[in-house]
Amino acid sequence: MADVDDIRDGRNFGIGVDIAKQTFHVKGMEGSDWGLKNRMARIFDRNSGRAVMLAFDHGFLMGPTSGLERIDLNIVPLTEYADCLMGTRGIIRSSIPAACTKPVCLRSDTGTTILTQMNDNLLICEEDAIRLNVAAMAVMVAVGEKENEASTIANLSQAVDAGMRYSIPVMGVTAVGKDMVRDARYFALASRVCAENGASIVKTYFTEGFEKVVACCPVPVVIAGGKKLPELEALELCYQAVQCGAAGVDMGRNVFQSEDPVAMIQAVRAVVHENMKPAQAIQLFNDLKK
Ligand code: 5RP
Repeated sequence: MADVDDIRDGRNFGIGVDIAKQTFHVKGMEGSDWGLKNRMARIFDRNSGRAVMLAFDHGFLMGPTSGLERIDLNIVPLTEYADCLMGTRGIIRSSIPAACTKPVCLRSDTGTTILTQMNDNLLICEEDAIRLNVAAMAVMVAVGEKENEASTIANLSQAVDAGMRYSIPVMGVTAVGKDMVRDARYFALASRVCAENGASIVKTYFTEGFEKVVACCPVPVVIAGGKKLPELEALELCYQAVQCGAAGVDMGRNVFQSEDPVAMIQAVRAVVHENMKPAQAIQLFNDLKK
């Protein structure tokens, strides 16, 4: 039987005080379910509205590429500085300590390597994403690639259907085919296609005119870093992207291939969350560098 001893009547009903209006800090999510918003809030900081996602999923296509030879040595020390970890299920399970409570954006498509036809991918089962307690799933979309466009958009739609059943957001990752012109027109198209098909986050590449890419995408856009650049250039890329409205970065090589990845991710954080200018951020990098 319930304990009925000393049950006190409520007294503070706030009569005359309007119920608090809730606003959500992530673009385009107002109409979403609580669970999906809660997952997005684990990724995107409430104060800046932005995120530093650390991408280390490259091995699923590239194998042990430079900087990812040993996840325990190369990536685990960076996790405390990331807002979200983007990796594959094999690496998350084998190499990221389960006690790490950073949200995971799970690479959820698979099926090809750099040795064969790229982007000819299919989805992993969403049940495994649930078992891994992920905050989001990530799926590649090859807009404009004749052979893979339809199948990769179908993958995204299927992932969103599965994600919506459990309120797991899906990040659409725009893969750029070799024949595509990497301009704002193309990235605006590819990003918008991801959002139209239900992606809650879009990952794409920075380009001139990026403010247009962000403006016409109704959900947060984060940028990939692309190939390794000198640290100052990578910080400039982050700065320009967030100033154009990007909701942060999902960066890999420019962090884990840096001469000092721990210093670099902290400098990237300062740019993304504090709008630190590149000249100051490179100074921070140099000060933190071992
Ligand atoms: C490619 C990916 C990679 O994770 C991503 O592009 C890597 O980031 P970076 O370009 O910064 O190394 O999603 O499909």
